Amino acid sequence: MDVSTREQWMTIVEETIVAQPRVGQQVLSMVKGLSDITDGFSVDQMQHALQTATRAERDGADEEVIVASLLHDVGKLISVPNHPKIAAEILKPYVRHEVYCMVSYHQDFQGRYYYEYLGMDPNLREQHVGEPWYQLAEQFADHWDQKAFDPTYDAEPLEHFEPMVLRVFANAKSL
Ligand SMILES: [Fe+2]
Repeated sequence: MDVSTREQWMTIVEETIVAQPRVGQQVLSMVKGLSDITDGFSVDQMQHALQTATRAERDGADEEVIVASLLHDVGKLISVPNHPKIAAEILKPYVRHEVYCMVSYHQDFQGRYYYEYLGMDPNLREQHVGEPWYQLAEQFADHWDQKAFDPTYDAEPLEHFEPMVLRVFANAKSL
């Protein structure tokens, strides 16, 4: 890099912009990969993702929130303990800050439903009281995410969400 030129960097920038659609496609293939993960839940992780996003959409959430709901557990493809942060960082350049936080801290909110069984504090969400994104994170956890393990729920298929994913990942808003 120390011998690179402005001209070379202009080429890199131009070709990176042209290749941007691959980001949305890659994200969609990651969601498909979630179908290989069940880990003892009553539905696999792709079904959980579809149900979470469908519930968000049916409650009138906007497109960034719906796409973030679809992707909130995609980090489990890599590692379960830190999966919220992995997913949040994938989303970060493409969504507003409150949506990033909704995903990044979702496990603190979900803990209300099971942390007591693991010897952990089920009230971890309380450390976030007062944050401007608290209400959204609470709605996500209580009304969409924790309910999305129902084998009988009529979730939309992944194809329904594809155009939304491609639109959200079409342009980075920030680094
Ligand atoms: Fe989840």
